[in-house]
Amino acid sequence: MRFENQSAIVTGAGRGIGHTIAVRLASEGARVACVSRSEDNAKRTADEINILRADSAKHYAVDVADHAAVQKIGAQILEDFTKIDILVNNAGVRRDGLAMRMSIEDWDAVINTNLRGAFNFTQAIIRAMVKQRSGRIINITSVIGLIGNAGQTNYAASKAGLIGFTKSLARELASRSITVNAIAPGFITTDMTAGLSDEIKKTIQSQIPLGKTGTPENVASAAAFLASGEASYITGQVICVDGGIVM
Ligand SMILES: NC(=O)c1ccc[n+]([C@@H]2O[C@H](COP(=O)([O-])OP(=O)(O)OC[C@H]3O[C@@H](n4cnc5c(N)ncnc54)[C@H](O)[C@@H]3O)[C@@H](O)[C@H]2O)c1
Repeated sequence: MRFENQSAIVTGAGRGIGHTIAVRLASEGARVACVSRSEDNAKRTADEINILRADSAKHYAVDVADHAAVQKIGAQILEDFTKIDILVNNAGVRRDGLAMRMSIEDWDAVINTNLRGAFNFTQAIIRAMVKQRSGRIINITSVIGLIGNAGQTNYAASKAGLIGFTKSLARELASRSITVNAIAPGFITTDMTAGLSDEIKKTIQSQIPLGKTGTPENVASAAAFLASGEASYITGQVICVDGGIVM
């Protein structure tokens, strides 16, 4: 029970990687604020956790890109949980297309959710973490933010931005014993990747040294480690969970 008496916020907890991280933190003792854009999805994850461990989760529906709404929800979460020890900025979207043809709406949607969203939630809880002089912030970036990908300029820019954000924030908060790290997943089987054609999936798989795609559990294990006391001397790092794509 590494997270006994601790509280966590997981954004994008309605499904996929965020859902699995929320359940993992709860299964190791944390109380979890499950945040998603859709109320139904956030509630489903919170209900699942509460069956596992009674009164361990609450759900909140908000668009992470909406700064004012996130400050309001953040204050509500701090009131409901009294403190937040762990923030996992996981909510993310992709709207792929070649830069030449990409609409400004697709550019903005991806940057605003993936990058601005992480800033918004961080700003909502950072004062409380600084005051308690402890905390863990984990940003879910992507290997695409490190190596780029044709057809994903918006996504790669948002995820590379998140890495710069992680390192700068780690420097700002280190003196308060708050660590800030990023996890860069490779190809993980979730709804986000389900829509890709079999041909693209086969091509990607052939480029993974470990020869198989990853699972949300693989990412959740890294998140739980970074959130734990065992990672207290690690900050400003990007941990790739990618079967060896980036090395
Ligand atoms: N699946 C992969 O292969 C992969 C690889 C690298 C990085 N990632 C990153 O991991 C994170 C989770 O991805 P996933 O595969 O689980 O995706 P997913 O599409 O299955 O889930 C994303 C979650 O984020 C929520 N969300 C999206 N936009 C939101 C918004 N504006 N406000 C609030 N919530 C919002 C969705 O409702 C959903 O619950 C993302 O940041 C993604 O970029 C995924």
